[in-house]
Amino acid sequence: MVELGKNGEHGGSRHAVHTSPLLDQQPVLSLRDLQVTFRGTSGPVPAVNGVTLEAHAGQVVAIVGESGSGKSATALASMGLLPDSATVTGSVLVEGTDLNAIPEKQRVPLRGSSIAMIFQDALAALNPYRTVGRQIIDAYRLHHDVDKRTARERAVEVLDRVGIRDATRRVDDYPHEFSGGMRQRAMIAMAVVNDPTILIADEPTTALDVTVQRQVLDLLTGLTDDLGMALVLITHDLGVVAEVADQIAVMYAGRIVESGSVLDIFDHPAHPYTQALLGATPNLETSGRLAAIPGVPASGTNLPSGCPFHPRCAFAAEVGEACRTKRPVLELRPGTPAHRAACHFTTDRELPDA
Ligand SMILES: Nc1ncnc2c1ncn2[C@@H]1O[C@H](COP(=O)(O)OP(=O)(O)O)[C@@H](O)[C@H]1O
Ligand code: SF4
Ligand SMILES: [Mg+2]
Repeated sequence: MVELGKNGEHGGSRHAVHTSPLLDQQPVLSLRDLQVTFRGTSGPVPAVNGVTLEAHAGQVVAIVGESGSGKSATALASMGLLPDSATVTGSVLVEGTDLNAIPEKQRVPLRGSSIAMIFQDALAALNPYRTVGRQIIDAYRLHHDVDKRTARERAVEVLDRVGIRDATRRVDDYPHEFSGGMRQRAMIAMAVVNDPTILIADEPTTALDVTVQRQVLDLLTGLTDDLGMALVLITHDLGVVAEVADQIAVMYAGRIVESGSVLDIFDHPAHPYTQALLGATPNLETSGRLAAIPGVPASGTNLPSGCPFHPRCAFAAEVGEACRTKRPVLELRPGTPAHRAACHFTTDRELPDA
């Protein structure tokens, strides 16, 4: 078991991880051509259309996109937690084992110990009738053959690590006795109690106020470093990921339209959608309400022809026919090791800096 540091602060820049020898190793999570289709009342609803993504140990990979772009469907498919109404194709390789190719019975022992997930709504994820400690103890004993006392010690240790003060006493509290931020911390404690290799955090800070958001992000990145896990951080807010992510994948209409390092995405955004998202991202110089991207986000049932972004794209008129008829594929940007974009425009030309 990896030792948990006590209330350890996350120090230094996450971006230093780029030079880590860990990246020479195999990815711990590898999604290959992941497709998710829901059975809707008026036909199939494609939610994820061929997502390929890797996450290495010690790395934060952010998935960013507007609501409905397929982020949660990607996350739930990675956990094998989608309802029966969803068809999943492609591979979800978790430490080399394809979760999408094994029966549910074989997935159960991997959930929690190899791959764990936290959700936006901690209140919904925690059982209101059981103490926080009891829920963490149960999660721990699912994967460890230990007595209750040992499991309780572990629960206190992990609550302390996620920043719950006076954990020895608070372990016996019920979820409603915790504040929103503390509940989020408790859910994180439950998710990491078995030292998962991969943690998927689906909009973990969306429901929290700005100060608590920052603390929870610091906690997640600190745990990523301490435990050497891979963190897949899902958010609709590009601003959230600037300081914490190593790699970013931008999703639109069930596809990754741009991916690369934080510097690739923030300093050289290649896809008009990423540029528009960056234009809508607050920074120190902007305040107040921000301009949304004009137009309606494309989704499975109203997928435009050609490039799904073309009805909203500022450059579509310039490129013309190809945008309306030909689907751009995710291609490596010339002269870069891993910056990819799916756009006819950037394939030939440089976009001006955002
Ligand atoms: N259970 C479901 N049944 C039918 N369609 C769904 C279901 N869950 C999600 N979808 C559809 O799949 C698409 C992607 O949804 P989702 O992954 O939740 O997006 P995001 O997390 O990026 O907001 C949306 O068009 C959504 O309406
Ligand atoms: S392919 Fe065309 S419509 Fe799509 S993002 Fe690029 S320029 Fe815009
Ligand atoms: Mg979602």
